[in-house]
Amino acid sequence: MPKNTILIVIPTYNEKENIPRLLLAIKKQNIGADILVVDDNSPDGTGEIVERISKRDRAVFVLHREKKEGLGKAYVAGFKWGIKRGYKKLISMDADFSHPPTALRKMIRLCSPISVITGSRYVKGGKIVGWSWDRYVNSSTANLITRLLLGIKTKDATAGFKCYPIEFFKKINLEKVRASGYAFQVEMILLAQDNGFKSVETPITFVDRKAGESKIKGELLKSAKLVISLAATREETRQFVKFYIVGATNTFTDWLVFFPAKLALFSAFGSANTQTLKQIAKAISFIFSATLSYLMNRTWTFRSKNPAMLKEGSKFMVVATGGLIINSLAFYVSTAVLNLRDIFGLILATAAATLWNFFLNKKWTFKK
Ligand code: GDD
Ligand code: MN
Repeated sequence: MPKNTILIVIPTYNEKENIPRLLLAIKKQNIGADILVVDDNSPDGTGEIVERISKRDRAVFVLHREKKEGLGKAYVAGFKWGIKRGYKKLISMDADFSHPPTALRKMIRLCSPISVITGSRYVKGGKIVGWSWDRYVNSSTANLITRLLLGIKTKDATAGFKCYPIEFFKKINLEKVRASGYAFQVEMILLAQDNGFKSVETPITFVDRKAGESKIKGELLKSAKLVISLAATREETRQFVKFYIVGATNTFTDWLVFFPAKLALFSAFGSANTQTLKQIAKAISFIFSATLSYLMNRTWTFRSKNPAMLKEGSKFMVVATGGLIINSLAFYVSTAVLNLRDIFGLILATAAATLWNFFLNKKWTFKK
């Protein structure tokens, strides 16, 4: 068992100019943490440099890996090393001074058995220094899309500066982590969220590296693919797709029922007002398709076992009615107020109503 209960894991690939200085800077914080550098056999000799430091300093360790396998793989190896040795808190940190050592103390203090801490660029007080505007736009857009696709509540979803309690690693299975590269950070915060850990963000000033090079170039596509694949396996995404299919199917059902209903009404009450009969036919087809939607969403989309179907069904109808109102309101606003073309009005109105219907049904009608 190590004396220190905190382990800082730092992956490195060609960081010979940064790592010795960073180790000193961390020491100066006096936080009583051990440091593990995970080096992927850097051609510039980073591994040997740290090896030498670790001979003098008993709080510094180095894990040599054969070849460059990506940030995610390096972290998994480093975390496993730390878990095996009984550390209580594990920190992930870059080697290039982008993650300020001065933030460590606070992050460690905030970290509890139920919370994962992120040193965050995208909360109030957080800053990025030294990035070109296009890198900033890339990063913040990637961050936003990632959050939307995966439903991540943490503002800095791609952040690499984190403090995890050992309880987190006991709950998850590191073997099952899929990301080998930069998407690792996203997968970890998603795991924290899905496993009921509180995500706490503390602002940091992220300073772009002065020495060495970023390795993120060329990794973006790979990371994006992984995020999409994580999204595809998510319960919420699957539900949304199913909900959408049910909606589209039953728009069609609505039309299919309308015409025979109109015909039947006309032949039965031919003498009555045709407008009234048409409205009745429309009401019948709406009730029919809405009922079918309810049943399909109950059994297929949300797999509800709620025995109170009358109540559940009524809630569904209330939501659907709200959806209709939102649909026409959004169409009116976008075409009459914002002067958009009808086609855009239709798209916006459908999108607004679909989102409304989905989230209300998920959170209210079919709430588990
Ligand atoms: N062992 C090992 N193997 N280390 C690696 C590898 C690898 O394949 N790739 C990168 N590293 C190390 C770097 O040496 C550095 O210490 C750290 O991982 C971060 O790499 P950078 O190349 O400096 O990443 P970045 O600055 O572009 O990206 C940072 O910001 C991203 C969000 O914008 C990182 O913090 C990312 O984790 C973060 O997602
Ligand atoms: Mn960096």
